[in-house]
Amino acid sequence: MGAGPFGVWEGIVALLFLDTADVNEVRQAAAWGVLDGVTTNPTLMMRAGTADLKATTLEIVNIVQGPVSAEVISTDAEGMIAEAREILNWSEHVFVKIPCTVEGLKAIREISRWPNGRINATLIFSPLQAYLVAKAGATYASIFVGRMDDAGLDGMEVVRQTRAIFDRYGFPCQVLAASIRHPAHVVEALLAGADIITVPFGVLQQMVRSPFTDAGLERFLADWRKVAGAGNRP
Ligand code: G3P
Repeated sequence: MGAGPFGVWEGIVALLFLDTADVNEVRQAAAWGVLDGVTTNPTLMMRAGTADLKATTLEIVNIVQGPVSAEVISTDAEGMIAEAREILNWSEHVFVKIPCTVEGLKAIREISRWPNGRINATLIFSPLQAYLVAKAGATYASIFVGRMDDAGLDGMEVVRQTRAIFDRYGFPCQVLAASIRHPAHVVEALLAGADIITVPFGVLQQMVRSPFTDAGLERFLADWRKVAGAGNRP
């Protein structure tokens, strides 16, 4: 237990990742001391205004010193494998993100045989897709909860079913709850047994805040000033 290359609290579930390619957000969240890793994707790179996948990924690795996922662009297995070979050589912390497609499965199978084959299988929307990427050898299965909820489905049910299947058959693949929209999703993902939850920075900020905390603190400080006078410390 303790700090290690795979998280702030290696060995303790659940890990908390930031879902962003914005280096400033990573820097802020890392300073809070609760961040284990980061997930990026091409859309997040676009939002962060960077096309330099390697430089951005390594900048994030340098800050978080934990798992950082970088996604391939190729759609054929050969291309994904070639990209993965390069991406995984950038740092021991980097995971390659491979989409759950037929070509993706072929790539996952091949990459998982490498000594540095750290794979985050992405764009998962069913327990069957999670089962297949686990069989192929993925390290993480990223289930897109919010996008399913957006479509009127129950995204968290896929997390629950995947957890049960992985436990029932002993798959070492870790369940990663992604596409998180709000703090309640984080609570549900924790209760559903997700190994990792990746959250946008806005959700992380919401997680720590409570108006009751603010009001409680304000009252404590006001009461303290009454007995000790302004500016006095205990
Ligand atoms: O990291 C991928 C996933 O979290 C994307 O989320 O918000 O684009 O559905 P979203």
